[in-house]
Amino acid sequence: MNTERSISQLFDLRGRTALLTGAGGWLGSTMARSLAEAGASVIATSRDLKRAEAVASSLPSSGGQNHFGIAINHLDDSSIQTGFTDALLRAGRIDILVNNGNAACTSDLTTVTDDEFNQTLANATGYFLLARKLRDHAVSRSGGASIILLGSMYGVVGSYPDAYAGAVSASPVAYHTLKGGIVHMTRHLAVYWAKDNVRVNCLSPGPFPSASANDTMVERLCEKSPMGRMGRPEELKGALVFLASDASSYVTGQNLLVDGGWTAW
Ligand SMILES: NC(=O)c1ccc[n+]([C@@H]2O[C@H](COP(=O)([O-])OP(=O)(O)OC[C@H]3O[C@@H](n4cnc5c(N)ncnc54)[C@H](OP(=O)(O)O)[C@@H]3O)[C@@H](O)[C@H]2O)c1
Repeated sequence: MNTERSISQLFDLRGRTALLTGAGGWLGSTMARSLAEAGASVIATSRDLKRAEAVASSLPSSGGQNHFGIAINHLDDSSIQTGFTDALLRAGRIDILVNNGNAACTSDLTTVTDDEFNQTLANATGYFLLARKLRDHAVSRSGGASIILLGSMYGVVGSYPDAYAGAVSASPVAYHTLKGGIVHMTRHLAVYWAKDNVRVNCLSPGPFPSASANDTMVERLCEKSPMGRMGRPEELKGALVFLASDASSYVTGQNLLVDGGWTAW
């Protein structure tokens, strides 16, 4: 009997539930749509419950999915505990976690304070605590799970100082430190949790500036990019659904860069 699944079956997320943090953000809102379009029920989270609910209610549900919003601040352990528990009570099960939210650091290496640096690194703590909650849930129900952590090209390579000089402050040293740590945390968790049928991968965007980004900086980034342009949020959709779905069932501990070739130079 041929048990090989078709490509559309492998990418199909129908019957799965995905929790996505920072679901109302620039990239998060596109990621939320991609999960819903692939058939998943989406638990959209934000620090602001109303924003989370607004995102959830905007998502397509042609397969009869049940999307809803939950408040989670991943810098606050009690918010993680309450938010995850509420999400589980309402959804019954969670199969996919996308740790996308990020409390941004705006200070660069010339001005960052110790508190700002530590606060930036605390994003990794939040990613870990949420990931462990999903792993424990997956083990308790003897089901699998896919965890995706948002990294960055700047977790793999150093900054490109010429893009910023005289236009904006340098890309924050604390952000590079954070994202490099997230790329490596991915490997650690993947190794420990593989036997639990829990996959952990990192999705690392290259430059995907929003409309409010500084024009000069964007121009310089385009000149440096092998593809000569910035990423469009929809260009993360395929990679995200790949990592979330059975299409990547033998992939764990990896960092998938979607960067127009930036890190290939
Ligand atoms: N855009 C890029 O070029 C780029 C490149 C590489 C990597 N990335 C990564 O991709 C992810 C999304 O970036 P983005 O450009 O979409 O940024 P964004 O528009 O600023 O979205 C970030 C989201 O994080 C949420 N957030 C902030 N503090 C949080 C906290 N304490 N707990 C939970 N969520 C929190 C915010 O949601 P609420 O305010 O609703 O809570 C916000 O919507 C980030 O991890 C970022 O580092 C982005």
